Amino acid sequence: MKRREFLSWTVKAGAVLMLPAIWTGCKGGNGGSAVALPDLPYPANALEPYISEKTIGFHYGKHHKGYVDKVNRLTKGTRFAGISLEEMIIESSGKEGAKAVFNNAAQVFNHTFYWNSMSPDGGGEPTGAVSEKMKASFGSVDKFKNEFVSAATGQFGSGWAWLVQRDEAFEIVATANADTPIAHGLKPLMVIDVWEHAYYLDYQNKRKEYVEACLEHLVNWAFVEENVAVAD
Ligand code: FE2
Repeated sequence: MKRREFLSWTVKAGAVLMLPAIWTGCKGGNGGSAVALPDLPYPANALEPYISEKTIGFHYGKHHKGYVDKVNRLTKGTRFAGISLEEMIIESSGKEGAKAVFNNAAQVFNHTFYWNSMSPDGGGEPTGAVSEKMKASFGSVDKFKNEFVSAATGQFGSGWAWLVQRDEAFEIVATANADTPIAHGLKPLMVIDVWEHAYYLDYQNKRKEYVEACLEHLVNWAFVEENVAVAD
């Protein structure tokens, strides 16, 4: 999907369908206002015992907020001020001199997407259309989970493991540092943060245990289903 097609897709989706909270929650800068730090979709202790309140406190209150503050400092008075967060990401992607804007804007988006990808009522197995598409794309839900864990643990250094949609098929992609599927025309459905700050207080170096806990107990399949619906 080309950049122009992606932008028209988001506009079309916004006009026709009820957008998942993530897409409206990530809008930043419209009308010259700053990028906002969206509220967490649940209390900071809601993902315990799998992700502690202490981890969420630092992750949301320091890291996520830090990216919001930085992108606002970087874009104030520039051509990036007053556009949506998604446009900011797409417009700065791969552009000379805009790397810091891209990194901080993408990290705002990625973290908001991550909070919404997890839920205290999550985990278990996907149902309905998500289950059907998953079986068609990976063979079975178990195969998806195995491949996802491999991608998440195989990502060297900091990054993200994503379930995305390309045309009608589901795919798993791992991105490094701040990189994000929307910069590549891929539609994100779910993400797990595999930067060390996401799990080190609770799991130390055991990234695999953290990813498996997220998949088994926290993945918000209802959010995935909402995101799939936007593409239809
Ligand atoms: Fe993070």
